[in-house]
Amino acid sequence: MARLTINGKSYEVTVDPSTPLLWVIREQVGLTGTKYGCGIAQCGACTVHLDGAAVRSCVVPVSAAEGKQITTIEGLAGGGALHKVQQAWVDLDVPQCGYCQAGMIMAVAALLKDKPKPTDADIDAGLTNICRCGTFQQVREAVHMAAKA
Ligand code: FES
Ligand code: FES
Repeated sequence: MARLTINGKSYEVTVDPSTPLLWVIREQVGLTGTKYGCGIAQCGACTVHLDGAAVRSCVVPVSAAEGKQITTIEGLAGGGALHKVQQAWVDLDVPQCGYCQAGMIMAVAALLKDKPKPTDADIDAGLTNICRCGTFQQVREAVHMAAKA
């Protein structure tokens, strides 16, 4: 049994404590915005926030997330408005296939908390998510737009 707080709601799930958080979020809780890409902490498609910090949920055991605030892409917006990163993504039409984008947005939201006005070098160093569609240039522009919002 694990007790989790996801997007401000409490959940009790019956799983082995070593189960990756990603699978609990998707399969037990039914929030499928968080994606599976590689399963080995390389691609970032599974990025969520744990107490505000970006983590790759495919390698976080559910036991490590107990007692923390878990935020997924479904919980990023608040107060009836998109998060500024989501709004920049819409304004600049960033996604192509979209598969990597939930994780990318979660990673960017965490990056902007640490570095509210990142340089291109900060973005390149802090954003290691992989996009097979090659949206990196649009991502960079959208990060700058969100930083100005
Ligand atoms: S699925 Fe987690 S980093 Fe790729
Ligand atoms: S938009 Fe297709 S993988 Fe990134």
